[in-house]
Amino acid sequence: MKRAAIITVSDSGYRGEREDKSGPVIREILEKEGYEITFTELLPDDRAMIAGKLQEIADSGSTDLILTTGGTGFSQRDVTPEATEEVIQRRVPGIPEAMRAYSMTITKRAMLSRATAGIRGTTLIINLPGSPKAVRESLEYIIGALDHGLEILSGEATDCAAK
Ligand code: MTE
Repeated sequence: MKRAAIITVSDSGYRGEREDKSGPVIREILEKEGYEITFTELLPDDRAMIAGKLQEIADSGSTDLILTTGGTGFSQRDVTPEATEEVIQRRVPGIPEAMRAYSMTITKRAMLSRATAGIRGTTLIINLPGSPKAVRESLEYIIGALDHGLEILSGEATDCAAK
């Protein structure tokens, strides 16, 4: 079974002032696709805390995929992409490119998400934007293609014959 962790990044959520509606949307989509959710956490927009948690989860070997939501915009506090870039060893630009390309057919504001993606060890880390709507639109578009990447990453598959 594929294993995934969900990290919601939100100052107001962390302070208990706002309910996390995006994390549950990610969980719903992942479970529908057959993922086991190994870990969920709500963090503030703090670069060191986000980077530390991503590194800890990836290095524990407990998870194939980490999805973050929030902190990808232009606010001075939005640092999720920087925290992610700090810990990834190989960039995967095609995933955020695909999310933005598809999302821009829905709203041009999709270009305002600075979301990134990359690989640390055998864990794929992907940033999603913050709103539940943006999460659903972005994740439902990419989820079907992730399986194959994760199989290659874990060494389970070596053949890229297109399906
Ligand atoms: N992507 C999709 N698919 N749908 C959306 O509504 N909203 C955008 C963008 N990406 C949006 C989207 C907006 S308005 C912003 S500001 C950025 O994501 C960054 O969001 P974040 O700071 O909550 O991560």
